[in-house]
Amino acid sequence: MRVITYGTFDLFHEGHRRLLERAKALGDYLIVGVTTDNYDASRGKLNVAQSLMERIKNVQDSGLADEIITEEYEGQKVQDIQQYDIDIFAIGSDWIGKFDYLGDYCQVVYLERTKGVSSTQLRNENGVIRVGVVGSGRIATRFVEEARYVSGVSVEAVFSRRHESAQAFAHKLELQYANDSYADLLKHVDAVYVATPHSTHFDYAKAAIEAGVHVLCEKPMTLSRAQTEELFALAGRHNVVLLEAVKTAFSPGFQRMVAVARMGSIGRIRSVDATFTKLVRSGRELEPGDGGSISELATYPLVAIVKLLGLDYESIRTQSLRPASAEVEVFSRIDLRYPHAVASARTGIGVKAEGDLVVAGANGYIYVPAPWWKTEYFEARFEDSRDNKKYYYKFDGDGLRYELAEFASMIRSGAAESFKLRPAESIAMAEIIESARANAEVFE
Ligand code: CTP
Repeated sequence: MRVITYGTFDLFHEGHRRLLERAKALGDYLIVGVTTDNYDASRGKLNVAQSLMERIKNVQDSGLADEIITEEYEGQKVQDIQQYDIDIFAIGSDWIGKFDYLGDYCQVVYLERTKGVSSTQLRNENGVIRVGVVGSGRIATRFVEEARYVSGVSVEAVFSRRHESAQAFAHKLELQYANDSYADLLKHVDAVYVATPHSTHFDYAKAAIEAGVHVLCEKPMTLSRAQTEELFALAGRHNVVLLEAVKTAFSPGFQRMVAVARMGSIGRIRSVDATFTKLVRSGRELEPGDGGSISELATYPLVAIVKLLGLDYESIRTQSLRPASAEVEVFSRIDLRYPHAVASARTGIGVKAEGDLVVAGANGYIYVPAPWWKTEYFEARFEDSRDNKKYYYKFDGDGLRYELAEFASMIRSGAAESFKLRPAESIAMAEIIESARANAEVFE
């Protein structure tokens, strides 16, 4: 009898060993499918602590598997069972009922789960990361909701200068602490998520870093190169993680799009055009100081541009539209010249346009339809359309879970930077935003 079972097998524990023993005893040949990182991410299992190779080694070292395969996509079990000529599919009792459909292909056995142990528990043993939210606006609300999907992280407190706002927020989202003193908040948490108006980010981030608290900071981190640079230098000295919360950069679809473009499939990249518009009718976004289409939205197109073309741009030219009735620019176009390429970032808070992304190369181009910043789908297109290729990914929820998962894993591993969004890239984006705002040709 040939038996198959599947799992992540992260931080291999007694529950895993006992499951494999019993699965093996059901027959005489046991195949174990270990989930790939991509597959786990696509089914919303973020924060797995060990790499695929480590997890495969865990299973190998148990000495119980006759063969190990990887599980890479939804529906693979139906195929594996037929391909490997399986008689019995076995899985833990936490899955009861979920795999009954495999009964069309083989016998399905649910084995009782070992009580009191799980990878999730072990991952949290080193301590859950306690997070405080700074600010109590809409994005802060969404962040708390999204944080529930990231294991090992617990949002426990909120800070707002207005006591009533902090209290209402804590009550609505069932947080333990509501603070109107930032110093108090910093005493209760390991990390903060800064979601206040842009020009206040610097002070909140700086105070947190100096208190040894990790910082996930909403975009744009600051509105000047010098300030962003200073924060990263400070974080380095205090040994804390500082990350700019640009959800796009951490989402699987966007990362794959960048990889496909940079591996040369469309030839040398010559042009990047990215647009992001979001109509705003009232509020802080329309007020001088912090407001305007560049400070509000330019981070998204710029992250695509720096990821695709790098940091060595040679010049920046910005044109902004500010109707007589407005106090800030409501549409902007930032044009960057690179040594052998051009890029354009278009943002609008008072003009609506198609929010797509086109990466043009010498042999073809990549097209990402709106909303490209939540990349779920893109196409590589060529002169001969028979060569075109389509790529599909999943973008879960609001996407804030991706940035938080990355932030948490950096804190756990003690990483100073993430390749998904490097400090140098955040600094470059701050420089471009600063220059664009200062030097724009503004017209009505
Ligand atoms: N398993 C078990 N007893 C446990 C934990 C897991 O029998 N205490 C089984 C699961 O039911 C599954 C296999 O081990 O059949 C692999 O599960 P996996 O998801 O890797 O382990 P968990 O510890 O449940 O992981 P997590 O906490 O990340 O969900």
